[in-house]
This record gives sequence, structure tokens and C-alpha cells, in this order.
Amino acid sequence: VLTMIDELLRQRHLPDLLRFIDGEKVTRENWDKRREEIIRLLSQEYGDLPPAPVSVNFLQKSEESFCAGKANLVETILICNLKEGGEFSFPVKSVIPVKDEKQPSFILINFHDDVPDRYLPSEELCDLGFAVHSFCYKDITSDDENYNGKLASFYCGKKENLERGKIALWAWAAIRVLDFVLTLPETDPEEIALIGHSRLGKTALLAGGLDTRFTTVISNNSGCSGAALSRDKEGETIKKIFNRFPYWFKSGYGEYADKEHELPFDQHFLLALCAPRKLYIASAALDSWADPLSEFLSASAATAVYELLGEKGLDSDNLPPEENVLLHEGIIGYHKRSGTHYLSRFDWNAFARFIKTGC
Ligand code: GCU
Repeated sequence: VLTMIDELLRQRHLPDLLRFIDGEKVTRENWDKRREEIIRLLSQEYGDLPPAPVSVNFLQKSEESFCAGKANLVETILICNLKEGGEFSFPVKSVIPVKDEKQPSFILINFHDDVPDRYLPSEELCDLGFAVHSFCYKDITSDDENYNGKLASFYCGKKENLERGKIALWAWAAIRVLDFVLTLPETDPEEIALIGHSRLGKTALLAGGLDTRFTTVISNNSGCSGAALSRDKEGETIKKIFNRFPYWFKSGYGEYADKEHELPFDQHFLLALCAPRKLYIASAALDSWADPLSEFLSASAATAVYELLGEKGLDSDNLPPEENVLLHEGIIGYHKRSGTHYLSRFDWNAFARFIKTGC
């Protein structure tokens, strides 16, 4: 029997995750090959990530007792020795609970570098037993059409013909933070979640999809060119996003404006890169620009790969959920929080619970 979700997905006419471009069927055995093909397809949207640096050095700048002595606040400078020569450095702030055991951690790609911040409840996360490491995306490259900074001038290319957009540069930096976090004795390498909100949710999906050392990937209200399907999407479309933010993407992506049905992929391909790892897609009920239904359906469509790999994917009762219901039974978590576009305490609590109680 076709469920309501099957029917909604059928109407979108999505490209099939489980068929190679040449029509061959995808199996558990050849999934890795299909994954590589999907990565190549998605590079038409974001471009490839810049090459990994030759090495990364970590310079501790400061350490102070924090949260009434429950944690330490540490600032570290990550110094990346670029393949093409020269260095690129940026700061990371970490709040690390004082305890003797290994800890689960969040890596937050944030809009600001403050700790705490309206999007970063660091003391609450400490009380829940999590370390959190955050960096400000503007310390990587500016969020505009300026390409003078070190990374952008090296890796974006010309404005008229961008080899990759700024989302790819922010994603590259999130992976450097992962390199750093994995060197800390407190880190439990089995529980490292990458999280971003909105444009930085798009970034988290790209970095987390590509680098399988992230054990959980969390997209909060990432919408267009993030978690949401592009075909028949409400609110923001490829045309709208590309007109306003062409520099987030590789240049050719704009050719799909108003031609979403010609895309050889859709955003569920990006989500499927996380399989069989934990993935969480969070929407906000009043965020029609991002389009909660298209975010939910994308997570449903990515479930095919989780099932291929023997996991549950999104467990949804075959209906889009009501507001504030946490779908935590599968390896893909989902909720639609009430209210507007925001990364709230409700969202953080749901993510922490999903990670802690396992799925
Ligand atoms: C704009 C943009 C979205 C983006 C959002 C944000 O609204 O159109 O695609 O997600 O900014 O980053 O807050």
C-alpha cells in the first residue's frame, strides 16, 4: 500500500538514490561507489571542498574556569598549513566539562564567536554532559562577494566563474575543527555531532555528509539548498537563493533556477551521504521560507539508503508529524518545533536527547 508520504514523494518526481546514473541498481555491496557518484553530482552545487591542509597545528591561547567551575573555557588557534603554501589560522572556543571520562561533543558552526551565545547554550550543554566547540563562520571567509581573503582568493576563483562557493569553505573549516577535537583526550570519538543553523545548517550537511568521522550530523532550519527538496519547494527556490547569494555556490548551480526538475540530484542525495550515521533534520513550523514539509520529505526519501544498509532511517508513522513531536525512533531524527526560524533551547534539548538515548 502507498502511504501518504509515498504519495507526496511520488508527486515530486525525485531522481532515484538507488540507481546509478547509467541505470545500474544500487546494492549494499556497491553503495560506496554510488556514494562517490553522489558526491560528484553534488559538487555541481557547492563545488568540491578545498584540499585538506598538509598539517594543522593547535595553539592554545587561553584557558579559564567556566560555569561555576563545572567546565573550562579554552580558546585555541588552528593554524592550517595550506597545500599551496602559506598558513590560514582561525580561533575555536571550547567549553569542556571537568570530568574524568570521555565526553560526547558538539561542533557548532556559528554566526558569532561569543560563548555563550543566543544560539549556543553552553552551560546547559555542559550540564547535559556535552563538550562544545564553536567557531564563527566569518573568521573563515566573509559572507559576501568579497574574495580577497586568503581562503577565498586561493579557492573560489573568479566571481564570474566560481569553482566553489563559500559554503564549501565553511565546511572545510568545520572539518579542521574535527581534526582538532579528535586530538583532545576528553573527546569520545564515537559521539561527535556537527551542527549548524540555516545557512550554516546547509554547511553542516555538506561537511558532515562528506566526512564520516562526524558520528551525527544536525541540520537546523537549513531549507533551500540544505535539507529541503528543491523540486516543488515552497518559499525560497534555487532562483531566489542564487540571485541573492550566488557566492555560496559553484557558478553553474544557478542554471537550475526554475529548472529544478532537470537537476540530476535533489537534496535527499546530500542527506544520504550521512548513512548509516545519525542524522537529525529540524524544522520550525512558521519557517515557510525554509519549507518544513520539503525538509521532512527529504529525510523520508534519504531513508531508502539507511534501509539498504540495514538501518531504520526516519520512523514517522507514515505521516508528517505534528508540531513539537520528536521522531527519535530511527537513525534519522526529525522534529518541527513551533515558532519561527531560530536555533532554540527546544532544538538543542531534542538533539542532546537523540544522541544520549541512542536510536
Ligand atoms: C536567508 C536565506 C536562507 C538562509 C538564511 C539564514 O533567509 O535565504 O537560505 O538559510 O538566510 O542563513 O538565516
